[in-house]
Amino acid sequence: MSENNFDVVVIGSGPGGYVAAIRAAQLGLKTACVEKDPTLGGTCLNVGCIPSKALLQASEEYAHADKALKRHGVMVENLQLDLLTMMGHKDKVVSDLTKGILHLFDKNDITHITGSGALGATGEVVVTDDSGAESTLLSKATIIATGSESASLPGIEIDEKRIVSSTGALALEEVPGHLAVIGAGYIGLEMASVWGRLGAKITVIEFLDRIVPGMDGELATNFQKMLRRQKMKFKLSTKVTGAELGESGVALTMEPVDGGGAETLDADIVLVAVGRKPYTQGLGLEQAGVKTDGGGRIEVNEHFETSVAGVYAIGDVIAGPMLAHKAEDEGVAAAEIIAGQKSHVNYDAIPGVVYTHPELASVGQTEEQLKETGIDYTAGSFPFIANGRARAMSATDGFVKVLADAKSDRILGVHIMGADAGTIIAEAVLAIELGASAKDLARTCHAHPTLNEALKEAALDVDERAIHV
Ligand code: NAI
Repeated sequence: MSENNFDVVVIGSGPGGYVAAIRAAQLGLKTACVEKDPTLGGTCLNVGCIPSKALLQASEEYAHADKALKRHGVMVENLQLDLLTMMGHKDKVVSDLTKGILHLFDKNDITHITGSGALGATGEVVVTDDSGAESTLLSKATIIATGSESASLPGIEIDEKRIVSSTGALALEEVPGHLAVIGAGYIGLEMASVWGRLGAKITVIEFLDRIVPGMDGELATNFQKMLRRQKMKFKLSTKVTGAELGESGVALTMEPVDGGGAETLDADIVLVAVGRKPYTQGLGLEQAGVKTDGGGRIEVNEHFETSVAGVYAIGDVIAGPMLAHKAEDEGVAAAEIIAGQKSHVNYDAIPGVVYTHPELASVGQTEEQLKETGIDYTAGSFPFIANGRARAMSATDGFVKVLADAKSDRILGVHIMGADAGTIIAEAVLAIELGASAKDLARTCHAHPTLNEALKEAALDVDERAIHV
């Protein structure tokens, strides 16, 4: 086999792409991964999940030292914020992890090619490097894993200085006096939490009449109350119509969605977090005959194969939630299918987590979805205030809700608001993956004292037999 001849070429090295490449290599396929950026890891590692979690953790430590530690008898005097060190920690975590992928590529004999990949003639991927030089790779199977980019709003230009996307919001040089956030979804609320904890005044403007659309309604309502207690202001059912850059800030104009008078809001920084769109620019999809849907996402069959034989797509460029772990699972499944194995992704068991404080975590169906589809269900819930560990941690905000099929008792959805909800949800994901009933979860011995006992109690409550309420 010549050096430009591969079994699999993956375009994009985010969590979908690099994981697909590693799985393909593990299965004995000669694999290359093409990445246009100088570092591997895509949005998640470079400007998404990882740096945001570094800042969420650091800002939570700060807020904790400022407000919560007293309750535990730990007194802190002269608390100070060193934003430069905080950012330095974030940058080091990113740099170490992106280098870690290089190491994994070496270990698995994956060829890393720097440049922009595009589909060429059948079985070819054309790579253009920074100098404009082109090279052609021959590939039996190509996996498109090029991810997504921030969406913007008409009339609002993101300059990553005053009007920022998540990328700019992760690299502000000082704490803004007033941060206006457009969009009350994952990114908006996580970034609002970071900068709010560090001292910024926060106003969140949301088009819909609720926050975190897609999450369970009861959870969202309670979550908004928690965030209000953290001094976040919300303007729901409001649309932003324009943004004007001034000397030192931005004047946002907005109006109620249902009509009414326009108003202006002055902010130092505006974060636009109104969703993401698939990134397929320059891939040559049209020439190659790869079909996309109305939203620009690549259409695939149940084997992740596009309308062109031998060309596969995974992650944010195809339908489904734009989540790193969903992309990873699709990457593994696509590589296994290419290697001739049977593989699939269970879309009923993909968790969603908002890493605020308290965290929000969800898997399976919401009450609204069950009502809409007419599925008869029973619900059990349990508050963290009745959980011993949560009390010891002073983390009593929130609750767990378990939704189970009324006839079979099979778990259909679990929704959690509370400290470490993103970790607790893993148990619920496994329960759904294995087709467990609420009774199975309730019968399972849980270590005491742990936060997970609240999940067991909520499962018991499905049968109205929770112990500690
Ligand atoms: P999102 O889809 O979570 O939220 C966008 C919000 O903006 C929605 O509430 C929407 O109703 C609102 N919106 C849309 N147009 C608007 C307008 N004109 N005015 C006001 N509000 C408007 O999108 P987000 O937060 O930008 O995140 C993008 C993607 O990144 C999501 O798919 C998310 O899953 C992913 N992500 C996941 C994270 C995690 O797993 N913790 C963290 C960050 C992002």
